[in-house]
Amino acid sequence: MTEPNKWYVTTPIYYVTARPHLGSLYSTLIADVITRYHRLKGQKVFFLTGTDEHGQKVAQAAEKAGKDPKTFVDSFINAYIDTWKDYEIEYSKFIRTTDSYHVQAVQEWLKKLQDKGDIYKARYEGWYCTQCETFLTETEVREHTPTHSTRSAASDFAKASTDRQGERDIVPLCPSCGRGTVYLSEETYFFKLSAYQDKLLAFYEENPDFIVPKERAKEVINFVKKGLKDLSISRTTITWGIPFPGDSQHVTYVWADALNNYITGVGYGQKDKEQDFKFWWPADVHVMGKDIVRFHAIYWLAFLMASDLPLPKQLLVHGWIKMDDQKMSKSLGNVVDPMDLLHKYGADSVRYYLMRHMAITHDGNFSIKDLEQTIASDLANDLGNLLNRMVSLAQKNDLMMVPEQAIWDESAVALRDECLNMLEDMESYMDEYMFHMALPRIWKCIHQMNVFFHAREPWKLVKEDRQAFIQIIAATCHALRTVAYVLWPFMPEKMAELLASLGKPSDLHNNTLEQLELGRWNQSFTLTHIAPLFQKPELKGEAVEPVSTIPAVDEITIDDVVKVHLVVGTIEACEPVEGSDKLYKMQVNFGDKGMRQILAGVQKYYKPEQLIGKQGVFVYNLKPRKMVGLESQGMMLLAEGADGNLQMTTVASPVPNGTRLR
Ligand code: MSP
Repeated sequence: MTEPNKWYVTTPIYYVTARPHLGSLYSTLIADVITRYHRLKGQKVFFLTGTDEHGQKVAQAAEKAGKDPKTFVDSFINAYIDTWKDYEIEYSKFIRTTDSYHVQAVQEWLKKLQDKGDIYKARYEGWYCTQCETFLTETEVREHTPTHSTRSAASDFAKASTDRQGERDIVPLCPSCGRGTVYLSEETYFFKLSAYQDKLLAFYEENPDFIVPKERAKEVINFVKKGLKDLSISRTTITWGIPFPGDSQHVTYVWADALNNYITGVGYGQKDKEQDFKFWWPADVHVMGKDIVRFHAIYWLAFLMASDLPLPKQLLVHGWIKMDDQKMSKSLGNVVDPMDLLHKYGADSVRYYLMRHMAITHDGNFSIKDLEQTIASDLANDLGNLLNRMVSLAQKNDLMMVPEQAIWDESAVALRDECLNMLEDMESYMDEYMFHMALPRIWKCIHQMNVFFHAREPWKLVKEDRQAFIQIIAATCHALRTVAYVLWPFMPEKMAELLASLGKPSDLHNNTLEQLELGRWNQSFTLTHIAPLFQKPELKGEAVEPVSTIPAVDEITIDDVVKVHLVVGTIEACEPVEGSDKLYKMQVNFGDKGMRQILAGVQKYYKPEQLIGKQGVFVYNLKPRKMVGLESQGMMLLAEGADGNLQMTTVASPVPNGTRLR
């Protein structure tokens, strides 16, 4: 029996051949955000991470370093533990596959499968990628054998099988990492994977949401439909691995060892932990990169089916962080050390950037410029400055104790409603792991808070109507408190600072989210002036002048016309750009196409409230440009009137946001 109020999340366990890089941080961070979000929802969460320490890849790296494998892996463990600590990764347990309880439990598990008749001994002949620790299928060998060979690719597998590695020019390349493979021919133990083919296909069909995103499921299903061969699960040509029970010549195949961490980490195979295992298993979500889906969606499920254990509920498959469109990886030498970033920008800024910038299920390029831009604009400008301005103004006017308000005026009620809408939207994005959508939605609310604060001009109002002034400060405090809680899974330390500045504790008792959703703005606040939450990095982006002229009238063809995407969007938030007397920074809602930040030089012609809520027409596929250090992700179409005033262009009656003009 599993308790519904528990949540069990895992990361892949990392090969310890070097220090963690940004890609490893990314998987771990996703699991941490999920963990904290479920804690905010009041659930008990178990978050398992760790290291994958056996196998040929690790053994070879150790040999290269002139160390025995255990000493070699031990030398990197602290780098993992320290990096996770500095990045505020709140895991429940760190598992190492060399831990004795794991080793014993894997051996017990193998014995059970042997007794059940799911394991048999035979000869393995085929190609193996050490880098990915994976066996290639015949189809993969056929499809990934270099074509410069004089033989036809179709005959390569048969030929290669007899040639072994005698002829280097026909070594197939690994379909996943592109490196050369090695030919294995050895006596091994096999797991009867083929016996689970139909059960697996039935499971995928009955559980269409098992793999997120769904597209990845298609690849898995196609692979299984092509026919599963039994899986070799032991090796005799290496010694660095879990000894195979009852046969000292064999060590366990590293994936058969590693995948089991998900159950041994919560107590499987440990007499004193049976209750823990029953409580936590099955996992609610296994987080992983797209390169290792097959191992989880096929081998892992089949292993569990063979063991009569419940199956995990979901696989969350993320894309790769790339540098100049190449996967960031240790062997390509293009890795970014998370610790360098942390020292320069701080953990929370990097956490925010990775979760905001990367669409979780897609690959994304990492760029220092974008990171700096995001810190300056979202964190320092939009959020940090609002807190700073509000507290400074309160301090200047002797209002560090902000009393509870009995009634709220219309604009405060509108802001509270926006906070409630944000909570609802945020929750539905977070439940789907769409962090890159949840954050812009939270930011839309922060923009509304800025609009509220600036439009009400509390610095003027304080002289005329102190009660109204107090109310603006109180409403801003409530709204900031709301966003601090929902941003806590992303930026735990900074949000604790923000809450401390409002005089609120950052310990999240069980029903924090539920309480916020009640929308009771019944708090008093004790303000403290703190140092700016975020420091603006020195921006490397170049300032570009705003473009607001009508295009030249050279004749163009219809092909040119279709290149331009003119799209209708609603301006959800609008505020002056600091230091510019022309530009507004707007958040424009393009429906399914998402939210965009667009800058337009129309301060002279419109007040923010005249633009907010209006539908306009925008050049949607204009390459993002920088203006006074801020990125504009499109262009607002403007018409110059006879009086020289610029007017926004709009549609005669409302159309769905995201509608393209034709
Ligand atoms: N040891 C196996 C996992 C066993 S889980 C039972 C393994 N280790 S790994 O260190 O190579 O990769 C671990 C995770 O890091 C994978 O999910 C992989 O996708 C992720 N990343 C490695 N480089 C990455 C990027 N450049 N970007 C995003 N994630 C990437 O596979």
